[in-house]
Amino acid sequence: RARCIAEGEDVPMRLTRRVLTASLAAAALAAPAAAQTNVTITHALPVDSHYGVGAVAFKEAVERLTNGRYRVTIQRNDNEREAIEATQIGTQEFTITSTGPVGNFVPETLVLDIPFLFRDYAHARGALDSQIGQDILAKFSARGLVGVVWMENGFRNVTNSRHEVATPADLHGLKIRTMENPVHMRAFQTLGALPTPMAFSELVPALQQGTVDGQENPIPVIVSNNLNQVQKYLSLTRHVYSPAVMIGNPAFWNGLNAADKAAFLEAAKAAQKANRDRVTADEQRGVQLLRERGMTVRESVDTAAFQAALAPAFEAYGKQFDPALIRRFRDWKPGS
Ligand code: PAF
Repeated sequence: RARCIAEGEDVPMRLTRRVLTASLAAAALAAPAAAQTNVTITHALPVDSHYGVGAVAFKEAVERLTNGRYRVTIQRNDNEREAIEATQIGTQEFTITSTGPVGNFVPETLVLDIPFLFRDYAHARGALDSQIGQDILAKFSARGLVGVVWMENGFRNVTNSRHEVATPADLHGLKIRTMENPVHMRAFQTLGALPTPMAFSELVPALQQGTVDGQENPIPVIVSNNLNQVQKYLSLTRHVYSPAVMIGNPAFWNGLNAADKAAFLEAAKAAQKANRDRVTADEQRGVQLLRERGMTVRESVDTAAFQAALAPAFEAYGKQFDPALIRRFRDWKPGS
């Protein structure tokens, strides 16, 4: 129909249309390009990892939902403390980080780092997405940060270069790199290991030089960072769930109008989904992959013995944190 009308036009009408089209094109060329804001998000891991896919999902969703008015650059920084500081002072807008160093900025998150607090992924994800988890996210703003969304690192497992670990006694005297997290450090000290806190960026050289014998991380981290190249023994201790969180810079976040903030929040949810889906997939295939890469995997460990050996640490956490809050997380059930 549109073509028929055009063919039926008389000559002066067609000329008018051409002049109009030409002037519109000229006006478009002369108009300033729509403003584009660059936003940076960092995380500690390779592109092909559970953080990498989360960051890519965030970038794609932000750029699509804002029609390209925001452009997201993804960068790697495997020193998570530095990345949080940079987000706080605003040299970058976002970071995805484990809660490892977060407790040094937002002490209210430390309760989440207690060993054996969460039974499984459904428990951890459900509790963090529920009101108790959201209440902790809300605490970030008093510390000069924005807690945007809970993401995930996974259940942590011990690896080392000396021997299989099946009971707490096997950890005695082992130098284990921990995150810069006082809750984790207390746990490893209580288990008789020698906890050595350091940033992830320092881990591989420390393992290569023998400064430490072992470390602990979730399967997705061990796989994506090829830690099998520097560690022989993997024990599925699953001693602590390691949450991750997307943190934002408050000045940037509070400067967004309502529609853009909604777009960023939707993008953060897309990042959370991609990240959790990848953790699930890595957990399913990762252990076999690590065996194929030459690791000796100890699947059954004496979880009850680890929990019993941690009794003095649990007592200390009960004094340090609100016992009712610990119970709310530990006893969380869907619908509770
Ligand atoms: O071990 C750590 O520091 C963290 O688990 C890591 C690997 C940086 C991911 O958040």
